[in-house]
Amino acid sequence: MSEFFRWDPAKLSLQIPEMDDEHKVLIGMMNDLHTLNESSRPVAEQLSALDRLVRYTAKHFADEEVYMERIGFPGLRIHKGVHKQLLDRLGEFLSAARSSQKLPEDLFVFFKMWLSAHICGIDTKYAQHARTLKSA
Ligand SMILES: [Fe+2]
Ligand SMILES: [Fe+2]
Repeated sequence: MSEFFRWDPAKLSLQIPEMDDEHKVLIGMMNDLHTLNESSRPVAEQLSALDRLVRYTAKHFADEEVYMERIGFPGLRIHKGVHKQLLDRLGEFLSAARSSQKLPEDLFVFFKMWLSAHICGIDTKYAQHARTLKSA
């Protein structure tokens, strides 16, 4: 079975090991969920994998916010807002999945968008800030 999303250091690494590691865990969880879905595993199994993913995402966002605070990243407030939107959206997917007893069609499209747009477009901003601090 083909991997849904591959960790690509050239595109996704922030050069911040603690955050890169968490992104790898997230990608791993998305891949696992994709595999469960493709192999038509029982829906209860898929729902609990999605639930774990939502909880891990909340942890990752909280860790990232602490990190941004620590380095005095000026874009923290906006970044927090983006996290909140993503978590809300993810929560909607989870309740839709629970009530329809299947994963929503566009869930994986959403994951792809999130991984490439958020990590490459938004998370890189605090990584750039962290680099400026190091070179100062
Ligand atoms: Fe992130
Ligand atoms: Fe983020």
